[in-house]
Amino acid sequence: MQVNLHEPWYIGPVQIPSRLVLAPMAGVSVQAFRRQGRRFGAGLVCSEMVSCAGLHHGNERTLGYLRIASDERPLAVQIFGSEPSVMGEAARMVEDAGADIVDINFGCPVKKVTKTGAGATLLEDGDRACRIVEAVSSAVDVPVSVKMRRGLDNGSRQCLDLGPRLVDAGAASLTLHPRSAKQMYTGQADHSLTAELVSLVHVPVVASGDIDSRSRAQSVLATTGAAAVMVGRAAQGNPWALRKILDGDAAEPSREEVVAELILFMRETARELGDRATPFLKKFYGWYLGRGRFPRAFKAELTQLATIADVEARLFAAAPGARFVLARLEEELPRGDEVLLDLPISIYGGG
Ligand SMILES: Cc1cc2nc3c(=O)[nH]c(=O)nc-3n(C[C@H](O)[C@H](O)[C@H](O)COP(=O)(O)O)c2cc1C
Repeated sequence: MQVNLHEPWYIGPVQIPSRLVLAPMAGVSVQAFRRQGRRFGAGLVCSEMVSCAGLHHGNERTLGYLRIASDERPLAVQIFGSEPSVMGEAARMVEDAGADIVDINFGCPVKKVTKTGAGATLLEDGDRACRIVEAVSSAVDVPVSVKMRRGLDNGSRQCLDLGPRLVDAGAASLTLHPRSAKQMYTGQADHSLTAELVSLVHVPVVASGDIDSRSRAQSVLATTGAAAVMVGRAAQGNPWALRKILDGDAAEPSREEVVAELILFMRETARELGDRATPFLKKFYGWYLGRGRFPRAFKAELTQLATIADVEARLFAAAPGARFVLARLEEELPRGDEVLLDLPISIYGGG
C-alpha cells in the first residue's frame, strides 16, 4: 500500500502540510537547517532542545534559540527542564517568540541533562512529567507536544504507560523514538511500540528513529498508523534525502548543487552564530560532501581552513558552476524575512 506523504495533518489547530517532520537535533538544528528542511518538503521543523533554566535566567545564548523566521513555520520549539513552573514560563517565552507549537523533551539520554531530572529521566517520574505537561499547556494557547523515548532501560515499555497520561495532561501530539535512553543510538528503533502507542491515544503520533528511505517511511506509516515520520540523521547535510523520502525523487544532486546548498547553509549559519559558526560548520563539510564525488582529502582539507571565506573560495574552485546555482537559490529565497528575535544560539544534547 502506498501512503501519501503529502497529505496534511494537524497538531491541535496547526496544519502540517506533509507527513514528514525534521527532527530536533542539538548542535545541528540551526535556523538554516530548519529553513532548508522546509524548502525540501518537511511539513514541520523543530528547534533543538532549549534549556528552560537558560530562558528563565535570560542567558543570551539560550535566548538565541528563539530566533524564528517566517519561512520556517510551522515550527516547534523544544524545551527541556524539570520544574513545572519554570517550564511554563519558558513555554510562554517560546510562544511569544512566534513558535506554532511548544515541544517538551522527555527523551534526552545525555547525562548532563538527565542528572538534573530533565529529559529521559522524566519517563520514570510520570507524576512530575504530567505536572510539567499541565503547567506548559495551561501557560500557552499554542498546542503542546511531547517527544520521548521508550523508557530508560533496554526493553522498557514505559512510554505506553506514560503516553496516555501525558495526553490527559494536555499533550496534543506525541513523538516516540522507540529506543531506550541506555541504548543511546545503538540497536534499532522498535516501531512495534509506536503502533501500540498509536492504538492507545487519540492524538497524532510521530514515529522517530531510523527513517532513512522512502520504503522505510512508507512501511512505518502503514504498519504503525502514525500521523507522520520524523527524519533526523539521514537529513544531516543531506536535504535531498527529504525529497527522496517524500516523492521518491531518486536523482542525485550534482556537484554544483551540493556546493551551492552547502555555501548557502554556511552563509546563513555565519549570520546566525557569528564567530561560533567556524567550528560549528566543520562537521557539515563531510556530511554534505558525501555526495558529488569529492575525494576524502578534499573534505579533510576544508576542516583545516581558518575561515568560512576560505572554505567558500575552495568550494567554488572545486565547482565553479555552483556560483550560478547559488545565485538562483538566493534569488528564490523569501524576501523581507521577519526574524522575530535577533540573537545567537548554543551546544549539545539529544533525545
Ligand atoms: C546529534 C543529535 C542531536 C539530537 N538532539 C535532540 C534534541 O535536542 N531533542 C530531541 O528531542 N532529540 C534529539 N535527537 C534525537 C533525534 O531527534 C531523533 O529522535 C533520533 O536521532 C532518531 O532519529 P533518526 O534515526 O532519524 O536520527 C538528537 C539526535 C542526534 C543524532
